[in-house]
Amino acid sequence: MIDLKSMPHSKDDLDRYEVENIFHSWCFQPSQSPLRVTSAKGIRFTTEDGRERLDFSSCFVSHSIGHQEERVVAAICEQAKTLTSFAPTFSTTPRALLARMLAEITPGDLSRSFISLGGTEANEAAIKICHQFTGRRKILARYRSYHGGTATSMTLSAGDARGWAQVLGGTDFITVPQPYCYRCMFGQTYPQCELRCVTYIDEVIELEGGDEKVAGIIFEPVTGANGIIVPPPEYFPELRKVCDKWGVLMIADEVMSGFGRTGKWFALDHWNVVPDILTMAKGLSCGYVPLGVTIVRKHIGDHFKEHFFAHGATYAGHALACAAALAVIPIYQEDNLIEKSAKMGAYLLEKALELKEKHPCVGDVRGLGLFVGLDLVKNRKTREPIIPVAARIRPGMNPKLEVAKKLAELGMMAIVANPGNVIAMAPPLIIKKDEIDEGIAIMDKALTVADAYVDN
Ligand SMILES: Cc1ncc(COP(=O)(O)O)c(C=O)c1O
Repeated sequence: MIDLKSMPHSKDDLDRYEVENIFHSWCFQPSQSPLRVTSAKGIRFTTEDGRERLDFSSCFVSHSIGHQEERVVAAICEQAKTLTSFAPTFSTTPRALLARMLAEITPGDLSRSFISLGGTEANEAAIKICHQFTGRRKILARYRSYHGGTATSMTLSAGDARGWAQVLGGTDFITVPQPYCYRCMFGQTYPQCELRCVTYIDEVIELEGGDEKVAGIIFEPVTGANGIIVPPPEYFPELRKVCDKWGVLMIADEVMSGFGRTGKWFALDHWNVVPDILTMAKGLSCGYVPLGVTIVRKHIGDHFKEHFFAHGATYAGHALACAAALAVIPIYQEDNLIEKSAKMGAYLLEKALELKEKHPCVGDVRGLGLFVGLDLVKNRKTREPIIPVAARIRPGMNPKLEVAKKLAELGMMAIVANPGNVIAMAPPLIIKKDEIDEGIAIMDKALTVADAYVDN
């Protein structure tokens, strides 16, 4: 008989289980257990050694309202007492309410949601809907993107070294450049470029079969893990025109950028662009219970009244997760977190720019809201990245991982172990000015490690 009480669970036992029994994400399997987290509250978390640490990453940009928010914990407990989940062929109150609430906070006529368990699943559903609605196969994605960890999502995650190990799942994906002005793939400079990155997409769509063959384009409105890339203001309005010309669906992956992260409900709101499909996760339930959503415009949703919707999941619309989101979403408004993200984000950006003055390893600083990135270089003049894209999937330390180690020593977590050469800072939206100062002071110390790699 398996019995929890009699299972050995000393510190050494738990460490051993971590090393021998768990697949750790996106890394060479470690020979030592990672730090064990015992509790978290607000913007801080405590590890087994009793040390309190600063979460400057919101746990990979998910815990936007902070940790262990009592209103959400109470709502989850309340829902758990009545109904944790039920077969998705039935209605539940939290599912119906969440679908309506999402129709209200998302832009334009986005109104019908498929409710799943995370960002990857939300994107998988988006691609299937795109195919089923248009009857076309080809999907455009952009280099330096991350859309999820499963086979199809990884195929979309072009330019992300974590995807190279993946056996490509489809031949119908076409990759186009990002509006990454700091390292423009066309060698151009904004605004003289006249948005070559958009006219290029127009040409690619035409050459790939236009309105007969190309179904959609998926993008992160502000690119997250691959570099906090904020597009020029005309980028999305112009891309919308190109997509309308060809009847190509715009799929906005707002998994990281949504729910106030950039200072608006959704990042695309900055440019008043309504996508055809929007995916969300992370800040939707803030990680209290896993949740993802794919929401589509009315005419796309209505299409499936006459056509079979070929997608589903056992836990679609999980009651506990929906109840968590129903408690989380009003908090953004009640506590003015979206305005705070805009205001504190401007302060964080200002402070990050000061880091650039002090540290030769910082080549560029970009951000929108509480979503700020430091682009690390070996040489500011040539803009040579401090590490190649592949560094993340090679064994051993690299300058960024050394910065991550230093940050851990100093008691802070930022987004450092992501691919590419950008360190991202994305603290919970409840952060205050003095707490930003505290995080910046720690980052200041940690960046000296990377300065040692700069060519003089
Ligand atoms: C933009 C984006 N899309 C999708 C995903 C995948 O989400 P999940 O890890 O919840 O499956 C992520 C995860 O970091 C992401 O940043």
